[in-house]
Amino acid sequence: MGKDVIIACDFASVQQTFDFLDLFTEEKPFVKIGMELFYAEGPAIVREIKRRGHKIFLDLKLHDIPNTVKKSMAVLSNLDVDICNLHAAGTVPMMEAALEGLTRQDGTRPLLIAVTQLTSTDQQHMEDDLWIHAPIADVVMHYAENAKKAGLDGVVCSPLEALKVHERCGSDFLTVTPGVRFADGELGDQKRVMTPAQAKEIGSDYIVVGRPITAAEDPAAAFRRCVREFVD
Ligand code: C5P
Repeated sequence: MGKDVIIACDFASVQQTFDFLDLFTEEKPFVKIGMELFYAEGPAIVREIKRRGHKIFLDLKLHDIPNTVKKSMAVLSNLDVDICNLHAAGTVPMMEAALEGLTRQDGTRPLLIAVTQLTSTDQQHMEDDLWIHAPIADVVMHYAENAKKAGLDGVVCSPLEALKVHERCGSDFLTVTPGVRFADGELGDQKRVMTPAQAKEIGSDYIVVGRPITAAEDPAAAFRRCVREFVD
């Protein structure tokens, strides 16, 4: 599995999305489509972006009973996306059911990765609200190991966790890491960040980059800078 830069297309409409993608005349970047765009525009936008030749990470973070997740994953698999995800909190049986649903008749399937604990969840809220009483770093690793046990391909994690995830789950277990910023760039609301070069150094398999590319004066140039630092 090659390293790649995934652009988080956090746009509210089809028009904004295609205006952005039209800026890429020389390459077809891997794109992440999240809930906002999917709920606004539906599967049609996935098909259209695919038709234009992009790979797609459909970031819908499924979490429900195993049977519902299995059937929903079968629908997403038919959309021919490249990566799907779910919450590891849904348990190992839910993750196993998801894989089953995702697998097509010919045995092929999109990659499936798990969200461990959201980076917006801190120790305090995990204890008070979720009633989980263990250090959050251990919980993240435990969930990553559960994902591995269920047969998933990897996890979404902070670049700071990628090294440890590879140690615990093997170097071929994918780490997909948001929270990437250029050394001379704005942090925005991200707190713990790494540059693309640092993410490469610690072994991230894919970096997910939003605003450093989408809000750049020249998004195509910012994308190429990311690729130069992370992939080349
Ligand atoms: O604009 P920015 O580079 O911060 O975008 C990062 C993308 O990765 C956003 O789509 C955000 O929702 C997503 N993400 C994240 N942190 C996580 C999981 C997902 O920033 N822990």
